[in-house]
Amino acid sequence: MNDKWNSKLGFLMAAIGSAVGLGNLWRFPYVAASNGGGAFLLPYFFAIITAGIPILIMEYAIGKTYRGGAPAALARINQKFEWLGWVQVMVSFMILIYYFAIVVWTLCYVFFSIKQTWGADPTSFFVSFLGTTDSAHHFGGIKTNLILPFLIVWGLAAVIMYAGISKGIERACRIGLPILLILTFVLVIRGITLPGATEGLQYMFKPRWSSLHDPHVWVAAYGQIFYSLSIAFGIMVSYASYLPKKTDVVNSAFITACANHGFEIFAGIGVFSIIGFMASQQGVPIEQVAGQGVGLAFMTFPTAISTLPAMNGLVGVCFFGALFVAGITSLISISQVIITGIEGKFKISSHKRAVTLVFVPSFLLSILFITGAGLNILDILDAHINNVGLTVCGFVEVLMISWLSNPEKIRTLANEYSNFSVGKWWTYSLKIITVIMLGVMTFLNTYQYITKGYGSYSRLDQAIFGWGALLIVAVFAVIFTRAKGFPGYNSIDSIPVVDDDEEVA
Ligand code: ALA
Repeated sequence: MNDKWNSKLGFLMAAIGSAVGLGNLWRFPYVAASNGGGAFLLPYFFAIITAGIPILIMEYAIGKTYRGGAPAALARINQKFEWLGWVQVMVSFMILIYYFAIVVWTLCYVFFSIKQTWGADPTSFFVSFLGTTDSAHHFGGIKTNLILPFLIVWGLAAVIMYAGISKGIERACRIGLPILLILTFVLVIRGITLPGATEGLQYMFKPRWSSLHDPHVWVAAYGQIFYSLSIAFGIMVSYASYLPKKTDVVNSAFITACANHGFEIFAGIGVFSIIGFMASQQGVPIEQVAGQGVGLAFMTFPTAISTLPAMNGLVGVCFFGALFVAGITSLISISQVIITGIEGKFKISSHKRAVTLVFVPSFLLSILFITGAGLNILDILDAHINNVGLTVCGFVEVLMISWLSNPEKIRTLANEYSNFSVGKWWTYSLKIITVIMLGVMTFLNTYQYITKGYGSYSRLDQAIFGWGALLIVAVFAVIFTRAKGFPGYNSIDSIPVVDDDEEVA
């Protein structure tokens, strides 16, 4: 673990690159739309203040102080906490293998956008482009048209990851973020100048107080915050472990959160304007257009792009190009969780070997997603891993730090080199509001998935690709926790001492 960020700006770009991902451009609009549009924003804002920012400060402080990926850092706080780090590593692994597939689709759609290859019926086109079969266990063979883009995305990710923290991740984000901003800017300008945009924006921003009584809106808001800010995955702990000791983590957390949510709202303006335009063209309600899950990006948006009066290709390239860039800069952060995790415990001296150890199984497993069953497996896996796996990770992480260890110590560590100190509100937010909200959310999500299942998939498919995947997460977390690491890796004395005196620009 000799690599480190070149500068604080480099770290922030990487952290923002991780946070700004598919979750902002694609998940946020449909989660917001299916939870009442403007009605969703207030609970979401509350979730950012009470969970998003406090957890981000916590993860930065833990990563920077204990200098390890999630398993090592948690073990150095309390050896009994290590298992959670491995659950986070395994959850990240599961997310990684399907996140790749979505990035592959976005790359294809950048090219499809130029001439709107999807034709008059983008929904049927998407299904046949993926060769989607009737169930998650009918694989239907590998789709040959996806092989080349699949190899390109893997190749790109491998080049970035082999180059390491500063020369790989930091550089990729320094290049990617400005491109992302330009593409989104074009999208927003085009969006707000369309007829019907105002209705879309009204839907996004108009508060509806009555929905504050609906627990589902709150659960959705807290769920979105994890995905959007990349918290509870172990990502921010891993990234912060490469920071010099004197870094101000409190302002870093505020900068990351403001940039991420600022971007989310900004991109949302573009997306909702285009959705408003499409709804007005078709004479249907906004929520009917927007609240379509996976379909929003690959079915609804192509339809909207084809309907635009002008600049169809440009809007398509900007939208899918933005998704692609945002996806890559998040994808690499998800893979870094696993790399830092195993490097830390098993003291793998060569970074390249660690990357290979992670990339070979991920590559092989992600082939599942370019078969005809890919879309169905992805949908089931994504729902279970996010709504059950990630939620449990967030809940247990906050419980461990705020109740089972010494949160005041973490607060002191966070404040140590920070220009402005976080007060006791931080501790109380985590200890009371966040724990209760996450506890309720974990219970409701798990209960619903057990009793009602997910979507219209067969129980067998859900058992294999949903609960089965969660079981694999649990089994491997136990194996990795019990595996023999290098002596003392989990003790506070093993924290590497590096450039302690270094000031961060
Ligand atoms: N934060 C990343 C995203 O939004 C994972 O997609």
